[in-house]
Amino acid sequence: MDGTQIPRHVAVIMDGNGRWAKKRLLPRGAGHRAGMERMIALSEHAFDRGVQYCTLFALSTENLLRPKEELDGLFSLFRSYFQKNVLRLKEKKITLRVIGDLSLLPSDIETLVKCGEAETAGGGRGTLTLAIGYGGRQDILAAVNRAVREGKEVTAESFAHLLYTDGIPDPDLLIRTGKELRLSNFLLWQCAYTELYFTEKYFPDFSDKEFDKALEAYASRERRYGKVGK
Ligand code: FPP
Repeated sequence: MDGTQIPRHVAVIMDGNGRWAKKRLLPRGAGHRAGMERMIALSEHAFDRGVQYCTLFALSTENLLRPKEELDGLFSLFRSYFQKNVLRLKEKKITLRVIGDLSLLPSDIETLVKCGEAETAGGGRGTLTLAIGYGGRQDILAAVNRAVREGKEVTAESFAHLLYTDGIPDPDLLIRTGKELRLSNFLLWQCAYTELYFTEKYFPDFSDKEFDKALEAYASRERRYGKVGK
């Protein structure tokens, strides 16, 4: 695969942590811990492969309706891994962005992510975006309401600036792990022409090698954007 076939932006729906744990007779939290560790290693691997933007669906608005115990576990996990990994991102010149409605999260998490974004701002090597408390429909609706309030007619281009992902190109490749074949309210506007790749692997088992398989599949796709092919 030569560099020109590497997708500039890869988005990942990290699904299957709970089922990974269940298969091993472990509590769901163990699956989330394994998922967290994989998420950190995988994002490094993606940038090493030449991806410039990597967007990970960590928690949807709908996931926030899960039992309090599971959410508390997820947030504790996030707190315990966050600071150290912000330092790593900074060293590697990767900018952290967080998209989603941060007001839905515990306030210390909101503070943590804002500090992480400020600390890593301007890293020239790539952008790692975490979607937390994110919903694609909510993103679109908030943008529509803003345009209405401002009394402006929008174009596809100006509308994109009103979304959480302002400044981030649309994903070239969207990967979903964990067997399900759906978008689950992720980047609905942004994925209009994104190549989709589904794998049966649960996220903690989605190794660097499996990621490379997705890159290979992407390299063999012909992107036509609705036009006639070669
Ligand atoms: C999907 O597996 C995974 C999640 C809902 C959370 C994954 C995110 C992390 C581990 C990272 C960081 C956490 C925060 C708070 C940003 P699932 O539980 O839906 O798996 P299942 O479908 O097998 O039950």
